[in-house]
Amino acid sequence: MHEAPSQASQSTARGQTARATAILVTGAGGEMGHDLIRAIARSEENVAIVGFDLRPLDRNVAQYCAETVVGDVQNLELLQSITDRYSFGRIYHLAAMLSSSAERAPGRAYDVNVGGTMNLLRLAVDERDATGRSPMVLFPSTIAVYGHPTLEHKASAGPVQEHEHLEPRTMYGCNKLAAEHLGRYYTDHHRQFDEGPTGSVDFRAIRFPGLISAETLPTGGTTDYGPEMLHAAARNQVYDCFVREDSRLPFMTMPEAIESIVRISSAPRSALTRSAYNVRSFAPSAAEIHQALRAHYPALTVGFKPNPGRQMIVDGWPGDTDDRAARADWGWSPAHTLDSALESYLIPGLKAHYGNA
Ligand SMILES: NC(=O)c1ccc[n+]([C@@H]2O[C@H](COP(=O)([O-])OP(=O)(O)OC[C@H]3O[C@@H](n4cnc5c(N)ncnc54)[C@H](O)[C@@H]3O)[C@@H](O)[C@H]2O)c1
Repeated sequence: MHEAPSQASQSTARGQTARATAILVTGAGGEMGHDLIRAIARSEENVAIVGFDLRPLDRNVAQYCAETVVGDVQNLELLQSITDRYSFGRIYHLAAMLSSSAERAPGRAYDVNVGGTMNLLRLAVDERDATGRSPMVLFPSTIAVYGHPTLEHKASAGPVQEHEHLEPRTMYGCNKLAAEHLGRYYTDHHRQFDEGPTGSVDFRAIRFPGLISAETLPTGGTTDYGPEMLHAAARNQVYDCFVREDSRLPFMTMPEAIESIVRISSAPRSALTRSAYNVRSFAPSAAEIHQALRAHYPALTVGFKPNPGRQMIVDGWPGDTDDRAARADWGWSPAHTLDSALESYLIPGLKAHYGNA
């Protein structure tokens, strides 16, 4: 997955500008963007990274980027202007409005999550036309693409496979599923009328569960109660959990999520049997997260005060997903159970972060 060493843009004899090879990361300033950019910079020394986000990137992440661009993924012209300077062989399209935020502003969520993805796919097609190579587009999808109509349905479904229960009940889930389909279209069917399918893009999606980082707190997501409870424990705060104790969802740690992205990026296209894969590490109820945390923070007090809207979203998402396809096709394997994640990653990380855990 290494690419040619980056080079500063140079003038050619014909007066045109040679483009530097680079990786584009949208949503670079977010939780996942921070960790992914650091991981790429560490493992691929000579690659140039262009970080793109609505907000200026903080130094922690900007220091790894050859260039940072502040802008909106809805702005196709701005995105295209970056490709005057860079040739992107890989695009990590992380920018999105997350589930709770999307539910509050569904129209804007559609524009950002579907329209923005369409713009990145257009960029990839342009790149294919210019170079003859299909850029890889990595897309973090979500368990929100699934939808259970009732709690009984959720309880009896068991771990959900990729083709099951694809009836999302949130705008975010609808957006992500639509974006997955667009990526699959550009990979398998683009230009089928004129030339036969050309495979303009190499689109790869991972359907992530809730992600828990020892360093950052998420905002605007519906799995946020997991990380929020953990960070509240480390800060000796009482936590009011916005879902019921019996609410169950799959989770994984942020380093596992980054490892899965690195792994699927390294897999040969021929090994992939689908365009979107489940990954997961553990699937505790909210009460089980509380209980596991109490072993480390005996004084932790959690009040369960369900927020009706967010509870409804959690009740519609799967209690667990089936990750066998990712294991078989590209060697995915979770590193942690909830207990081992706490012991070997989360608690040490929180201690380093807050200094008082
Ligand atoms: N965090 C999770 O639990 C989780 C789970 C499943 C999938 N995902 C997906 O992973 C990706 C990254 O998530 P995250 O946790 O880092 O989220 P985040 O909210 O921390 O980061 C998203 C980033 O995208 C940027 N952004 C939002 N709208 C934009 C726009 N219109 N143009 C440019 N930038 C914009 C934001 O400024 C932010 O820096 C998202 O696509 C999300 O849907 C996250």
